[in-house]
Amino acid sequence: MRYFIGNWKMFGIPKSINILNKINYFYSKDKNRQKYRVIITPPYTLIETYAKHFKNKRISIGSQNCYQKDQFSSNTAAVSPFMIKKVGAKYTLVGHSDNRSEGDTNEMLKNKVLFSLKNNLKVVFCIGENQTQKKNKKTFSVLKNQLTKVLDKKFNKNNIIVAYEPIWSIGTGKIPTKKELEKTTIYIKQVLTSIFRKKSPAVLYGGSVDSSNVEMFKEIREIDGFLIGGASKSSKKFIDIIKNYYR
Ligand code: 13P
Repeated sequence: MRYFIGNWKMFGIPKSINILNKINYFYSKDKNRQKYRVIITPPYTLIETYAKHFKNKRISIGSQNCYQKDQFSSNTAAVSPFMIKKVGAKYTLVGHSDNRSEGDTNEMLKNKVLFSLKNNLKVVFCIGENQTQKKNKKTFSVLKNQLTKVLDKKFNKNNIIVAYEPIWSIGTGKIPTKKELEKTTIYIKQVLTSIFRKKSPAVLYGGSVDSSNVEMFKEIREIDGFLIGGASKSSKKFIDIIKNYYR
């Protein structure tokens, strides 16, 4: 199974659902549709209406984040995995670099994963090194640390997807070389296999994915799909990524 996940970040109002209607129309007619899943993570404000609208359709709706507590508590502006699940989301991102840079620690992330899984949300756990870490050849140790400090062998790996998003690649147009990315993805799967035994969860790539560079990414067998930011805000750009992936 492949995954095309669109992360809208701080984008979208109610009528932006038109973008998703177009993507859903393509997806429901695509001859390759059995081979992949499309998940969109709009902001919290839109999850309920979008999830209702697409309930019996092909697209799934996810959240971009969640709070590190289970149900209700006195944390202003916080939204728990329980609340997200109750409005119809099926997935949640956890550990996006935007949120790590705003203070998410490994301990917080572990609770986010734990309570999301407990509430039957599938987790897309994001990891990635920054420019300096890459320059200092610390990529593997950073990734290993991010994975082993949060993912626990007791977690159900069938409900976890890992997204590798090098921070220097997000929104910059810069992407890793094919060789680099192949090596890194294999390494991530090795670490995951040692945490969970036997089979690794799916590993996605994210960072400046578009319809032209997806041709290179698709040659890397180990990559199970993509976490797409900028290009997911346009139905055409998003659909073109899928089209070119299966061409
Ligand atoms: P871009 O595709 O805009 O680089 O964003 C990637 C990302 O951060 C998705 O979560």
